Amino acid sequence: MIKQIAIDGPAGAGKSSVAKMVAQKLNYLFVDSGAMYRCIAALAIRKGLDQNDTAAWLDIALTHKIDLEDNSTIVKAGGIDLTDEIRSPEVTLATRFAANNPEIRKILVNRQRQIGQSVSIVMEGRDIGTVVLPNATCKIYLDASSSVRAKRRYDQIIAKGLPANLQEIHQAVVDRDSSDKNRKVGPLKQADDAVYLDTSDMLFDEVVDKIIAISNGQLND
Ligand code: DC
Repeated sequence: MIKQIAIDGPAGAGKSSVAKMVAQKLNYLFVDSGAMYRCIAALAIRKGLDQNDTAAWLDIALTHKIDLEDNSTIVKAGGIDLTDEIRSPEVTLATRFAANNPEIRKILVNRQRQIGQSVSIVMEGRDIGTVVLPNATCKIYLDASSSVRAKRRYDQIIAKGLPANLQEIHQAVVDRDSSDKNRKVGPLKQADDAVYLDTSDMLFDEVVDKIIAISNGQLND
């Protein structure tokens, strides 16, 4: 039987690394849905598009096949490898113009649904349990306080030897939450049947084990 684990939550809650590890342990495919929105923004920047030129942004989504290879570790659009580019601060900031475009969402949601048809998957994003895979066998809403999420991000940047300002990072986290939660189409929202997990005081392995237990029907909360 094909199984679908949907993991949603705000930026910085640890969805990506947790989902990747859950998928690895269960031998499911890991799908990073946010990477698809990021690809549209990266290509729009390459083309020098105005953020308000919604028709041109939509055209990118219509004309570029997006490939999430090797469990989403290699990300390509129209055959162009964008793996590193989509993580740049510039692309991160511009991605909201793809994510807030209802027509682009329709296209990407359809492609995401198709990926989950033939193999068991762990897919993470913002609207996976509510819109993309409403019949997922297991839904998780992964959360953490904005200050914990900002501190995690701050620690990552400092660990790379780069300068960081905790207050600015916290503000960026709050801004992104607001953009994600107030989007008219596909907003970040906990599905009624999702299990809520606050990871603020949990260790990484605890979160992974708990999700696997929930997906195996061993835990209900
Ligand atoms: O998870 P992420 O930070 O890589 O996502 C990048 C952006 O895409 C983020 O601003 C939210 C948006 N996104 C979305 O709207 N729907 C999804 N299913 C996944 C991401």
